[in-house]
Amino acid sequence: MRLLITGGCGFIGSAVIRHVLRHTDHEIVNIDKMTYAASLDALEEARDHPRHRLVRADIADADAMRRVFTETRPGAVMHLAAESHVDRSIDGPGDFIRTNVVGTFCLLEAARAYFATLEGAARDAFRFHHISTDEVFGALGADDPPFNEATQYDPRSPYSASKAASDHLARAWQHTYGLPTLVSNTCNNYGPWQFPEKLIPLVMLNALEGRPLPVYGDGTNQRDWLFVDDHAAALVAVVERGRIGETYCIGARQPRRNIDVVRAICGVLDGLLPDPAGPRERLIRFVTDRPGHDFRYEIEPAHAESGLGWRAAHDFESGLRQTVQWYLEHRPWWESIRAGTYAGQRLGTAA
Ligand SMILES: NC(=O)c1ccc[n+]([C@@H]2O[C@H](COP(=O)([O-])OP(=O)(O)OC[C@H]3O[C@@H](n4cnc5c(N)ncnc54)[C@H](O)[C@@H]3O)[C@@H](O)[C@H]2O)c1
Repeated sequence: MRLLITGGCGFIGSAVIRHVLRHTDHEIVNIDKMTYAASLDALEEARDHPRHRLVRADIADADAMRRVFTETRPGAVMHLAAESHVDRSIDGPGDFIRTNVVGTFCLLEAARAYFATLEGAARDAFRFHHISTDEVFGALGADDPPFNEATQYDPRSPYSASKAASDHLARAWQHTYGLPTLVSNTCNNYGPWQFPEKLIPLVMLNALEGRPLPVYGDGTNQRDWLFVDDHAAALVAVVERGRIGETYCIGARQPRRNIDVVRAICGVLDGLLPDPAGPRERLIRFVTDRPGHDFRYEIEPAHAESGLGWRAAHDFESGLRQTVQWYLEHRPWWESIRAGTYAGQRLGTAA
């Protein structure tokens, strides 16, 4: 099968590409605009792999998307490209509407036009998998049951509102036009190649450099943490075995309070690389909460586990240890990003 993967140079997309090349025979066409969040380094062995081709293009460019489908004739789409950082969406929501809403619309329209040309087995096999977040469900209280596929949408930030809009578009294109879409909603990911603006790498690298560790509010906000390679395996299972029109809530069953995540990072770092100045927990600083900060997200993944025959392989402690070790071994990558000299977004053929 030829997979058209959007956002394949991002954190999760690059993990999906590594998984596909290592564990399947599928070919990949990787569509990426190469924003600040993209990393060619993250593609590692994929860059020169005969089953991977990178096309630099904007999913909100309708003509480019139509050309990509006509020229590459994919068997399925895995749509990950997005603006993904909540804090950035609060500072500047425009890019989130453009990429997450208009971009998804352009991609769905290009897929619909292409799907209309398919016949027989190619038409039966075609899938459009839209990848989304649990943030579309809003916030849970301390005692609420976790989110599942029946939870009502209640997005609270410009990011989650734009993702919610794109989820609705993907489902509407299935109901209205018969485009075979599937949607997955996933909890917080962490692991190698995550851009160092997100909580786990930010705290880890600040701790390494002896800088303050900012924690929003009182640190009791809670998230369910999924190791990125487990997510990649789940996403490939969805596109290979998922049922058309279905939603899959993908979670790790590893809820942790933010303050406990930060303490765990300090503990792993102290064990691997003790700081002569003392335990790194001394660097924790509580900062003014993010506006509209959702209190708790947690996913009930039973439907995905039974429907896909998938289950997260890492608990939080083993995944975190692996992640910290990885960042220690990949200093040049994150040091250049933090120094503002990162030049990861230059290559790729234009669409
Ligand atoms: N990171 C998480 O914890 C998490 C959790 C649940 C769901 N998700 C979803 O998974 C997907 C991937 O997330 P991520 O963390 O890898 O994001 P990321 O920000 O690391 O990567 C996004 C990628 O999309 C590309 N991109 C952005 N705008 C584009 C455009 N207009 N056209 C083409 N490419 C564009 C970027 O260049 C980048 O390579 C997103 O849809 C996100 O909403 C992420």
